[in-house]
Amino acid sequence: MELSGKVVLVRVDFNVPMDNGLVMDDARIKVPVATVKDLWERGAKVVLMSHLGKTSDQVEIQSLRQLVPAIEEIYGRSVSFIENYLNENTRSLIEQTSQNDLILLDNLRFYPQEEDCDLDFAKKLATLGDFFVNEAFSVSHRRHASVFGIPQFLPSDLGKNFKKEIKNIEDFFNHTSGKRMAIIGGSKLSTKIKLLKRLVAKVDKLAIGGGLAGAFLSYFNGDLSEVFDLKGYEADVKEIVNNAKDFGCELIVPTDFSALISAKSDHAIMRSENSNTSVFDIGPDSVKLLKNHIKNSDVVLWNGPVGLFERSPFEFGTKAIAEFIAKRTQSHKLISLIGGGDTGFAMKKFNVADKMTCISTAGGAFLNYVENEDCPALEAIRISHRKFG
Ligand code: 3PG
Repeated sequence: MELSGKVVLVRVDFNVPMDNGLVMDDARIKVPVATVKDLWERGAKVVLMSHLGKTSDQVEIQSLRQLVPAIEEIYGRSVSFIENYLNENTRSLIEQTSQNDLILLDNLRFYPQEEDCDLDFAKKLATLGDFFVNEAFSVSHRRHASVFGIPQFLPSDLGKNFKKEIKNIEDFFNHTSGKRMAIIGGSKLSTKIKLLKRLVAKVDKLAIGGGLAGAFLSYFNGDLSEVFDLKGYEADVKEIVNNAKDFGCELIVPTDFSALISAKSDHAIMRSENSNTSVFDIGPDSVKLLKNHIKNSDVVLWNGPVGLFERSPFEFGTKAIAEFIAKRTQSHKLISLIGGGDTGFAMKKFNVADKMTCISTAGGAFLNYVENEDCPALEAIRISHRKFG
């Protein structure tokens, strides 16, 4: 594609943690660097568009202006910041901007049309450029105007990191030699049911940790319903357990776990078969068990910490498993794919983030892609390819 003299709109995810106007973790700002540099080398002018702040919390939605110093440092170019861009002068403003500048539009979520996936809004955004590139895998699960709408009005493609993220997940599912293992943790069972249902059909071993392990302990222990109130989930847990049997997937639940016994983080190690309290972390026997299974696996996908790792002493299980996976990955005995969000944050905390085969930049979008092997962002790119070639 001839890009010289053209304007390329790049959807990025600069939704980074902030504290008093300072960027606390710039990993997401670095994600599009390779794609942007490639576009510059090909003579294009680059316009970045992003959100900052959660859909669920309008108060958190802040101006991207505060990111300018961090972006200028990482990209090594001046940023031309455009605050109000929904008017007919914006395109000519972009044309007049120096070829050497990186253009940044203010927060897309300032406009409610973004989250409403308003196609007129998407069309207006599309008039600002000649091509569109999606380099925001971590927002790929959102059917928002900039993700799902713009590609319907412009020739579009995926960025380098987006492609890599998808390939990492595909490679996990397509890995045919040796054993495939998934470790799923986290606190909320409701957010992982679909994922667990898909994984039992796809992996050789499925280990459950974190708070959601309590649901499986309750199920297996029958009368100990206080470990986890199964109300509303019993049928799902039963289906996961039965499907695991049918698909020949070994389901691994903690044999012991750590429980909170006083508000001051006093804890006790409980045996799984005779306890009726919530799982705060997996116990030492369960760590040993998991390590053995990991040792007998060739690829591992890990999503969700196996304990409340932010709070001592419940970081024990997540730290031990993280260090073990990192060690085996480093000695080329294991391929490790870590789902982002909390799990990625835990890997950073335990200093193993650079020792894994790949860590996704995405949280919800990673889960969504593993569950569906598709996402609204890809659907839109396919529409664009059909329209524009
Ligand atoms: C994220 O932080 O996971 C992405 O930026 C998506 O954010 P959202 O959950 O607010 O859509």
